[in-house]
Amino acid sequence: MESGSHDTLEGVLKQRIHGCVRRLAGWLEADVTGAARDLTAEREQRQRREAEQARLISELIAARDALEAERDQLKAHCQRIDRELAACVARATELERERNDLRIQLMPNDELSAKMRSEWDVRAAENALHYTNTAEKEWSLDEYFASGEANVREQISTDLANICQGDDPACMRVLEIGCGAGRITRALARMFGEVHGVDISGEMLRRARNHLAGCDNVFLHQTSGLDLSVVPPAAFDFAFSYIVFQHIPAKEVVENYIRDTGRLLKSGRLFKFQVQGYPAAGAEVADTWLGACFTAAEMHTIAERHGFELRHHHGEGTQDFWLWFFKR
Ligand SMILES: C[S@@+](CC[C@H](N)C(=O)[O-])C[C@H]1O[C@@H](n2cnc3c(N)ncnc32)[C@H](O)[C@@H]1O
Repeated sequence: MESGSHDTLEGVLKQRIHGCVRRLAGWLEADVTGAARDLTAEREQRQRREAEQARLISELIAARDALEAERDQLKAHCQRIDRELAACVARATELERERNDLRIQLMPNDELSAKMRSEWDVRAAENALHYTNTAEKEWSLDEYFASGEANVREQISTDLANICQGDDPACMRVLEIGCGAGRITRALARMFGEVHGVDISGEMLRRARNHLAGCDNVFLHQTSGLDLSVVPPAAFDFAFSYIVFQHIPAKEVVENYIRDTGRLLKSGRLFKFQVQGYPAAGAEVADTWLGACFTAAEMHTIAERHGFELRHHHGEGTQDFWLWFFKR
């Protein structure tokens, strides 16, 4: 090949190559520019989406805050209503109690006596053993009388210094108010010389007579349920009453029993008894099951009024409110 034609070919090739490079560079530039445009558009779209999302989030936060404020207001309102409701219920209970007290106070004595007697007769006919000791629904007689022995051990054997005051129990005459079916009476009869039991319910006494058939030292009397006028005026050495006054709805009747026990007890001797001391118990309709409630202050006044010294008490504010009344 000649050198002149060689130069020409090289020039042509160079020109072609330059042309190709220029075209390639043009394409690349167009590609890069397009990609950059696409990226910018995409970024702008993402920014718009983010701005929209931020707007939605702040709207949701504002809505949530408003709902929370509303919820707090409603909560406070509900709490206020709950408080008002509780106050209304307490007031209604108080009024109910006052109404019951008034109804019992205004009830003529013979009506009250008939009500107490008929309701206790019904209980005796239905399940005397259960209603005189509700610890069991179906008592065996052995277990029933064992529960009376246990009460005597707890309330009497542990307290002989106050009760016997040095005397032989076998020589003492004892009064039991509300003897029921003879549950405690039988245990008393095994310990003391002579026991007098009184009860308002003929049905209870009928069962007590059967249960105590072999006890020659027991004498049973049916009271009006209002006082002890039925008991012969013998001088008693000790008087006792358990789970009886807690059922008597009229305070006046409990006081009558205390007054009459004072009349029957020898001087210096003890009347040990239990009353209802739990205030809410009287809130229900007075029905001869939930009795009138006493405080220690009331019992002090009653003791003084009827010639007793209230030397000791235990369990004020509870259903098992025990009192030691010594005859002056
Ligand atoms: C829960 S029972 C207890 C009987 C007995 N104290 C005992 O622990 O087994 C209550 C007794 O009190 C008598 N009772 C209720 N009200 C009375 C009243 N006003 N006067 C006399 N006894 C009454 C009932 O008839 C019943 O026998």
